Amino acid sequence: MPTPPPLASGPEGPDALRPLLVTVLDALRDGRLARGGPLPAGGPEAVAERIAHAVGDLLPDEGDPDALRTLVHALAEGAADPADPLCAAHLHGPPLAVAAAADLAASVLNPSLDSWDQAPAASALEAVVTRELAHEIGLADSLVTTGGTESNQLALLLAREAHGGSVRLVCGANAHHSLPRAAWLLGLPEPVVVPAPGGTLDPAALDEALTRFSGPLLVAATAGTTDAGLIDPLPEIAGLCAAHGARLHVDAAYGGGLVFSDRHREKLSGLEAAHTVTLDLHKLGWQPVAAGLLAVARPRDLAVLRQHADYLNADDDTEAGLPDLLGRSLRTTRRPDVLKIAVTLRTLGRTGLGALVDQVCARAREFAALVQHHPGFELYDRPVISTVLFRPVKATDDAVAALRRTLLHDGRAVLGRARMDGRLWLKATLLNPHTRPDELAHLLKLVEGTTNG
Ligand SMILES: Cc1ncc(COP(=O)(O)O)c(C=O)c1O
Repeated sequence: MPTPPPLASGPEGPDALRPLLVTVLDALRDGRLARGGPLPAGGPEAVAERIAHAVGDLLPDEGDPDALRTLVHALAEGAADPADPLCAAHLHGPPLAVAAAADLAASVLNPSLDSWDQAPAASALEAVVTRELAHEIGLADSLVTTGGTESNQLALLLAREAHGGSVRLVCGANAHHSLPRAAWLLGLPEPVVVPAPGGTLDPAALDEALTRFSGPLLVAATAGTTDAGLIDPLPEIAGLCAAHGARLHVDAAYGGGLVFSDRHREKLSGLEAAHTVTLDLHKLGWQPVAAGLLAVARPRDLAVLRQHADYLNADDDTEAGLPDLLGRSLRTTRRPDVLKIAVTLRTLGRTGLGALVDQVCARAREFAALVQHHPGFELYDRPVISTVLFRPVKATDDAVAALRRTLLHDGRAVLGRARMDGRLWLKATLLNPHTRPDELAHLLKLVEGTTNG
């Protein structure tokens, strides 16, 4: 039997990893240089061909010691890189170096947060961070999730367990698709979709819906809509929920990060009235995926997630003082995503994180101003967070869609698309705090050049 390959942890781990990290870092650099832009040119076929070539024989009889370099290079070359200022389509942010470094430690140590005997320190860290982050937004506790979708699902599950299977979701037409999807998944009644003219939930229409429907209701508002980065009128919605006895969930997957900024935090006013809040630091928080949280106002609501599996949380172990972790998630094996979050919070502090938030919001305002002053473009509205919707004047929807695809295909810029006011808009979601004003001007020039053919 040949010597097995080295492990990432244990006494040999650091020395075994060090040269591999050099390989990875070099391949990341070379792959990015080979790409030369925000995403690979040539569209899906060209990328698939290069990947097929890099993979070759996936499970060869004899292994290939160069596979790490080859595949990391291929992935970097074929990446849509959110660290490139011209990559600004989605809530897909560039992770901070320090967060990625912490995530490496999480991979090496490989704690699993389903039982204390697999994650003694990680579980203690998670307990502190989840509580303190919830307190930041005026709630009591939180659970770590894989992102906004899982947080929204958990929020609906907690509502169902608190109010029964007849609880009906009431959400805006602007809500993320994961909310009605969670209602479907959990077997809840057909959701009521309230109009959201102009992109935010209309309180008068919500009032009407809450009056019309009897039975337990769960209102889901959004702080930071996917399409336009708008924030529903949370205090008014909270007031309506209180008046009608409805439960309130706020999906702050995007906007939740504003809490770190003295300048923007007040936009989240009303959040503290929610029963549950979705947060997601892989959006406005500069974390590698995954970094979701579901915050809860009443920790006792979490009791319904309690689960017993003798190999993980035997009663006598729990009685003897071993923390019972199974009820902290619907998952079993679970990564310590909390480590990179904790490292980021401590490294940057409130001031550092707030400055990043302020920076991307300022860049969005600057980009909006560029659009507004350009006779060839129309601006949808002033940005509330860091999303800017714009379109070439007089372009048809088909032309806007084709323009976006041309930029993607040529690998020159990654812009999103959003339908608002019955028209199709280009979407720039600015999450990169290093993006400079001249790079935004270049982005607009690129779009202008592509518009003109
Ligand atoms: C408002 C909102 N909620 C939830 C989600 C889903 O988050 P995730 O993709 O992390 O599951 C998104 C994704 O963009 C979102 O914009």
